[in-house]
Amino acid sequence: MKRILVTGANKGIGFALAEAILTHAEDTFLFLGSRDAGRGQDAKAKLVAKQSTWGERIEVVELDVSQDESVTQAAAKVRELSSSEDTPLYGVVNNAGIGQGSLQQVLNVNVLGIHRVCSAFLRLLQPQGRVVIVSSASGPNFVNLCSQEKQLFFLKKDVTWSEISALIEECLPLEGNDKAFETRGLWDGRAYGFSKALANSYTLMLANENPSLQVNACTPGFIETDLTRHYAESSGQTPTELGMKPPIAGTKAPMFLLFGELEGNGRYYGSDAVRSPMDSYRSPGDPPYEGD
Ligand SMILES: NC(=O)c1ccc[n+]([C@@H]2O[C@H](COP(=O)([O-])OP(=O)(O)OC[C@H]3O[C@@H](n4cnc5c(N)ncnc54)[C@H](OP(=O)(O)O)[C@@H]3O)[C@@H](O)[C@H]2O)c1
Repeated sequence: MKRILVTGANKGIGFALAEAILTHAEDTFLFLGSRDAGRGQDAKAKLVAKQSTWGERIEVVELDVSQDESVTQAAAKVRELSSSEDTPLYGVVNNAGIGQGSLQQVLNVNVLGIHRVCSAFLRLLQPQGRVVIVSSASGPNFVNLCSQEKQLFFLKKDVTWSEISALIEECLPLEGNDKAFETRGLWDGRAYGFSKALANSYTLMLANENPSLQVNACTPGFIETDLTRHYAESSGQTPTELGMKPPIAGTKAPMFLLFGELEGNGRYYGSDAVRSPMDSYRSPGDPPYEGD
């Protein structure tokens, strides 16, 4: 049985991914992560309404990635529920994310949240287990606008958690001070792009430190969810006119990173599941990135 944890699986891309995983094969089991237990149970009920037999293959796990204790308890629950397994998990998908909020809030969920989840769950992964980090094209776009020195930082394969967290600590007090970000070689401190650049950096770190796992990041693409709908509302255009796709389209790259034949580790993929650079935008349909 391939047991897979998806964080933030109660709605949006995470929910579509939950459905795609259950549809993919009979031998998958979903730990449906949700920061609110009720919203998690509602999501499970929606999935079971689509196919009643899925009820046996879903366990809701209350998991708020912004809280140490919640993540620790969730890992203990997964361990307990899989007590007969030495290594209960085939995969962990770090999908939970926010687009709005203070720099501290966005980094706490989109970067520290991934670190919390990986620190607690990696030991439950089987050898060659998959770690998927749902990042964003905002990451490479952010890096592209940084100084050369900072670009090298974001692309450093042997980056350490101390280095990543030191940069976070250095930047948190600078919120709103674009000039201070610029003098540090960082683009103007837009929290979301910064958080996704750091999430990609973390992907490099995790892959480098865990060669027995398969750790990769991707963008899901521009997908209509609660995270993006406000773009359409404020522009006066429909989500489709703005180029947004339905949540199912956002599962292509994460599904490839979970179940596909991977040719490397610590890589970043576009929404078309094709390898892409971490320091510039590659459009779906363009040739694959073949850099080091
Ligand atoms: N939509 C896009 O176009 C797009 C593009 C690039 C990347 N992404 C990335 O894709 C991922 C999913 O986003 P989405 O578009 O599906 O957004 P969404 O519909 O807003 O869903 C976000 C999910 O994350 C959960 N979440 C937020 N904070 C959390 C926390 N502290 N702990 C646990 N779960 C938390 C939410 O739970 P609640 O229901 O409790 O809030 C929800 O389940 C994010 O990482 C996002 O950055 C999205």
